[in-house]
Amino acid sequence: MIDNHIIDVRNLSKRYPSGFQALNQVNLQIRRGEIFALLGPNGAGKTTLISIICGLVNVGEGEVLVGGHDVVTQYRQARKQIGLVPQELAIDIFETVWNTMVFSRGVFGKPRDDAHLEDILRALSLWNKRDEKIQSLSGGMKRRVLIAKALAHEPEVLFLDEPTAGVDVELRRDMWRLIEKLRQKGVTIILTTHYIDEAEEIADRVGIINHGEILLIDNKRDLMQKLGRKQLILQLQSAISCLPDELDGFALQLAEDGQTLTYDYDDNQSENHVTEVLAAIHRSGIALRDMQTKQRSLEQIFVSLLEETR
Ligand SMILES: Nc1ncnc2c1ncn2[C@@H]1O[C@H](COP(=O)(O)OP(=O)(O)OP(=O)(O)O)[C@@H](O)[C@H]1O
Ligand SMILES: [Mg+2]
Repeated sequence: MIDNHIIDVRNLSKRYPSGFQALNQVNLQIRRGEIFALLGPNGAGKTTLISIICGLVNVGEGEVLVGGHDVVTQYRQARKQIGLVPQELAIDIFETVWNTMVFSRGVFGKPRDDAHLEDILRALSLWNKRDEKIQSLSGGMKRRVLIAKALAHEPEVLFLDEPTAGVDVELRRDMWRLIEKLRQKGVTIILTTHYIDEAEEIADRVGIINHGEILLIDNKRDLMQKLGRKQLILQLQSAISCLPDELDGFALQLAEDGQTLTYDYDDNQSENHVTEVLAAIHRSGIALRDMQTKQRSLEQIFVSLLEETR
């Protein structure tokens, strides 16, 4: 049987020695080759989950398989398939960039391959820094080194824990380019982020976690369609002080400046009233300067889901 799930987390619960329950009955299957974004507020359990999958934190209850290997009983086989870019800087700063890379391959029992390491360093604009001690690099460059290091042993799956926290536009761009390249090679990518626009841009599927529980996992597109409300935004020629009678009965909102009307509606509902709203506005004599519709973003979906489960 071909296993399409590179990661399989089953009924995973984790209580830290402090007594804090960080994960509660988490089930998560990651498909080979996909880009999966894990979204959740601070303290939701994202890093805990990743750390358990990577074998850095002990499994509490449940089971975690990576490429079919149990992370407890077959730790080495499981870990070998994973590249991890941790949230916190965890690296020997007295070592050079190049040696860090060479060493990392060795740790995972991979033969030396300088051409591969050069490719990675060039893709991350680190090639000319290869002989420098990590200590002497800027914060953003250190992050690049973490990414390079995670890729040194050609992992099947790459975890990026908050990859773009505190990085500049250029690194972000380099990183997304690299991720796209890795995806083309078939590498599975799992990232956590607070930047929902990022998830929206690059992820195939999105999981939302809060208080150690997975609230929802869905294809990004389906998620946006299912939960995505649309908004009709009307810019008026001149400001009005209140809604005319003709517009009573429609859930229209007038902005404070009196120049913008918004109408929220459900795109999936066949009986939305966009036509009626526009007709009523026409009847009321209000002149429009411009109009647009907006899809509710993943961010709004995320925020309202968290509010519902608070
Ligand atoms: N070693 C530990 N001992 C006790 N509690 C811990 C430990 N590590 C994490 N926690 C707690 O577990 C919860 C989840 O932490 P975790 O780091 O997994 O969250 P996160 O989703 O990664 O948050 P952030 O977005 O801030 O990175 C937090 O309440 C945290 O305080
Ligand atoms: Mg974290």
